[in-house]
Amino acid sequence: ATPSGSYDTVVIGGGPGGYVAAIKAAQLGLKTACIEKRGSLGGTCLNVGCIPSKAMLNNSHLYHQTKHDLERRGIEVSGISLNLPQMLKAKEQSVVSLTKGIEMLFKQNKVDYIKGAGSFVSPTRIAVQLLEGGETEIEAKNFIIATGSEVAPFPGGAIEIDEKQIVSSTGALELQEVPNKMVVIGGGIIGLEMGSVWSRLGAEVTVVEFLGGIGGAGIDEEVAKQFQKILAKQGIKFKLNTKVLSADKVDGKVSVKTQSAKGDKEETIEADVVLVAVGRRPYTEGLDLEAIGVEKDNKGRIVIDDQFSTSVKNIKCIGDVTFGPMLAHKAEEEGIAAVEYLKSGHGHVNYNAIPSVVYTHPEVAWVGQTEQDLKAAGVQYNVGKFPFAANSRAKTNLDSEGFVKFLSEKETDRILGVHIIGPNAGEMISEAVLALEYGASSEDIARTTHAHPTLSEAFKEAAMSAYGKAIHF
Ligand code: FAD
Ligand code: NAI
Repeated sequence: ATPSGSYDTVVIGGGPGGYVAAIKAAQLGLKTACIEKRGSLGGTCLNVGCIPSKAMLNNSHLYHQTKHDLERRGIEVSGISLNLPQMLKAKEQSVVSLTKGIEMLFKQNKVDYIKGAGSFVSPTRIAVQLLEGGETEIEAKNFIIATGSEVAPFPGGAIEIDEKQIVSSTGALELQEVPNKMVVIGGGIIGLEMGSVWSRLGAEVTVVEFLGGIGGAGIDEEVAKQFQKILAKQGIKFKLNTKVLSADKVDGKVSVKTQSAKGDKEETIEADVVLVAVGRRPYTEGLDLEAIGVEKDNKGRIVIDDQFSTSVKNIKCIGDVTFGPMLAHKAEEEGIAAVEYLKSGHGHVNYNAIPSVVYTHPEVAWVGQTEQDLKAAGVQYNVGKFPFAANSRAKTNLDSEGFVKFLSEKETDRILGVHIIGPNAGEMISEAVLALEYGASSEDIARTTHAHPTLSEAFKEAAMSAYGKAIHF
């Protein structure tokens, strides 16, 4: 039977922010329910985001490597072909096993899972339109809104997404055929990850980006340049400083109109499939926030204070639907902190130490400030850099593109930012996050033993080069 009644905490949204908050609340002894309308837990991340995209990235990389990179390693295989339906099925299996896993965690932790769409009736009552039909009302001392984000539509309605030929990330995760030509609008993280997937599977991919560089907000400019060079070598074409004006379906193709950022040149590109990846926006539809007076800003984000409280004091808010980077691990940290505020009045998220990772090959990862940030702020800094081409493990793996870059404060040697492009950058960045959390200096890292031969020696040597000199370069 669907749970009803009265709770200490009700979380709206079962994404990485919401489900983690619900589990934490139950672990701290609060009677907790989580309302989710999608029919499965895990939100954008598990259902149509992080997880399915990483499944496609991993398996398309293996396919591409098998096809183009095994011979020089002394491995001869023949008759390699793509079974796209099976690749999509493998992706689906990962998604289902992980979303079911969260249901298990809810049971173990005694979180009531309410399947339906929540809509506020008062600051302490919520109506739920149940997926199984009918409606129920639930009461709670506190609510946590974690309703996430949705694909931002193309401005002015100039492009209509049909999820078949003109797709968002969701459609790009389930194309049933490899397109001959694909145009990606937006060279941010989604554009580069999904562009990589379809390029590896055989599509001719052109990324059109309005700005002068790729990688989206927060990427170090030097890394972005190197990143673009590497992706271009892999076959992805880039049109930077170029704005897409429209995309129209004509005779089974899509005709994409672009204009140079200066406005002096127009061009039309023909594609079989167009991916619209121009950002995401907060999602609050159906919550009826107006009825209870929860305030939003002009970008539709729910306004919160430094304890995650909205303008209605017993209602907190976390994740993509409020301020900050739209990242799963950021939503999770906020979920835990918000619940800790509820329980004990204390919680904490260090927004200077939230890593970003782009799961292409090589991966790109960073944390803290970029070189352009430091220049703009007039901070005196040292740069320590070490290329993977000088790292023994990267060389033996025949996978040595990229570098590690440390930025540390000139006077104190305190680490201010770390930027990595290279194999396993996404795993390696955790060491930098920990260093930032502990206020470490680059000398602290440089004097820490890193096992040989590992990629992480490049991390240590970049630190050595920030406060002195690297040994191997
Ligand atoms: P969401 O995950 O969006 O969850 C919100 C949930 O609330 C949804 O399931 C929705 O159905 C539910 N909901 C909304 N309104 C109601 C209501 N009224 N009643 C009941 N339920 C409701 N981030 C990373 O960190 N790493 C990645 O690799 C990564 N890859 C991504 C790839 C893609 C293609 C996309 C689109 C995103 C990716 N992200 C990634 C971003 C990540 O998915 C989000 O930052 C994260 O999911 C945000 O979590 P959230 O809990 O705030 O919201
Ligand atoms: P984004 O904001 O990262 O990038 C959008 C890009 O589109 C920008 O560079 C922008 O300049 C460009 N653009 C906008 N309008 C344009 C136009 N008319 N013509 C040409 N270019 C245009 O947004 P994206 O890639 O859609 O991703 C949304 C969010 O999802 C990310 O910000 C990130 O938070 C999250 N995400 C995270 C991932 C990860 O952590 N690995 C993976 C995928 C998504």
